[in-house]
Amino acid sequence: MVKFACKKAREIIEELKEYLVDGISTYELELKSIELMKKKKVESAFKGYKGYPANICISVNYEVVHGIPKKGKILKEGDIVSIDVGVKYNGFYGDCADTFPIGKTEVKYIKLIEVARNAFKKSLKAVYSGSKTGNIGYIIENFTKKYGFSVIKEFAGHGIGKNLHLKPEIPNFGEKGKGDILYENQIIAIEPMIAEGTGEIEILQDGWTAVTKDRKFSAHYENCVLIKKDGCEVLS
Ligand code: MF3
Ligand code: CO
Repeated sequence: MVKFACKKAREIIEELKEYLVDGISTYELELKSIELMKKKKVESAFKGYKGYPANICISVNYEVVHGIPKKGKILKEGDIVSIDVGVKYNGFYGDCADTFPIGKTEVKYIKLIEVARNAFKKSLKAVYSGSKTGNIGYIIENFTKKYGFSVIKEFAGHGIGKNLHLKPEIPNFGEKGKGDILYENQIIAIEPMIAEGTGEIEILQDGWTAVTKDRKFSAHYENCVLIKKDGCEVLS
């Protein structure tokens, strides 16, 4: 079930969080995630996906998403680190992400992380059968802009179930009443990716890591949500 996969993905993030200390490499977190997935009897949804080389994504500071864990990438006090975990269980996928500071960081980065999380929470008001994806994007974008931050437009949330990425696409911007319609029992991953600066991105030489062009910091929060007749249920 997607519900089970989502629960395991969230547990893995919560357990990895405990290892987020000054001096640890992102590769050590990758190794820990392999161990945790094994223990929980789930597989990575990312490894091998379109050739992605690792089990999880770890994106630090101005990296937005799809950061590849590396031996030489050492986390240090003040960094903000997004961890994205996708797993497969019995043919069903779960996907979630969150961003955490290493030790003490600047107040504005804490705010950035909170706004990503709260943009997700606020968007749930627009999640019910018959609503449209534009209603979700509208809330995320407006909420984010209120704090002077911007949304990343190149990446979006997505449907999820027997595949990691299904229709519809859930952009983090939009217009009320526009976009694809949401149906009862559909499951979607809503994932605000926001940044301090313009929100424009570029992809690094490794072909994966998305970074902000202006090298301003970015935060990511993601959860899967089951669409119900008059509302929704957060699955992780
Ligand atoms: N969590 C990402 C998403 O929702 C997936 C990472 S893509 C991968 O789109 F290639 F890294 F797996
Ligand atoms: Co996703």
